[in-house]
Amino acid sequence: MKTLVAYLSQTGNTKKVAEAIYSQIPEEKEMKELGELEDLEGYDLCFIGFPVHAGNPAVVAKEFLEKNGAGKKVVLFVTHATPEGEEDLPACMDICRAAAASAELVGFFNCQGELDQKIAELLLKSDSPRHQEFGRRAPETKGQPDETRLEKAKAFARDVIEKAGA
Ligand SMILES: Cc1cc2nc3c(=O)[nH]c(=O)nc-3n(C[C@H](O)[C@H](O)[C@H](O)COP(=O)(O)O)c2cc1C
Repeated sequence: MKTLVAYLSQTGNTKKVAEAIYSQIPEEKEMKELGELEDLEGYDLCFIGFPVHAGNPAVVAKEFLEKNGAGKKVVLFVTHATPEGEEDLPACMDICRAAAASAELVGFFNCQGELDQKIAELLLKSDSPRHQEFGRRAPETKGQPDETRLEKAKAFARDVIEKAGA
């Protein structure tokens, strides 16, 4: 059983989750940035991670999944600046899940990641009160994903692997 962990990560948060997941997978395994991958051929189980951008999966990840996900066993992991308990997060996570609609989705993990300071500054200058509020709350995201979240990612990975019989 060959397992892939692939990720897209602009500011390093999703990469941290990818590394936590990867550490829990027994051989045979590979970790790659999404940009290094042509497709998902040759892997029995594919963990694929990406950040949320503007309420959606990062475009490159969405397009990659739509093009290459069909019929593959896929596990998604997603990071976002929104706190886990926030009311509008479940709808956003549903949109992320939908990116793997053509795949066999065998697991889904999401957690908060730090909002990059440059993005926060842009949001503060936006005309949208919602974006401004998001920018103001950036300090609350500092240090995420923290050890607790990374431990949750590890437990999630162990659980998926056990069920998949890797
Ligand atoms: C252009 C851009 C748009 C973003 N939009 C959202 C958003 O709509 N909702 C959200 O919760 N987080 C949003 N974020 C925050 C990222 O999803 C979060 O910081 C994520 O952990 C970044 O992952 P990375 O470090 O792997 O790139 C946005 C970040 C960027 C750069």
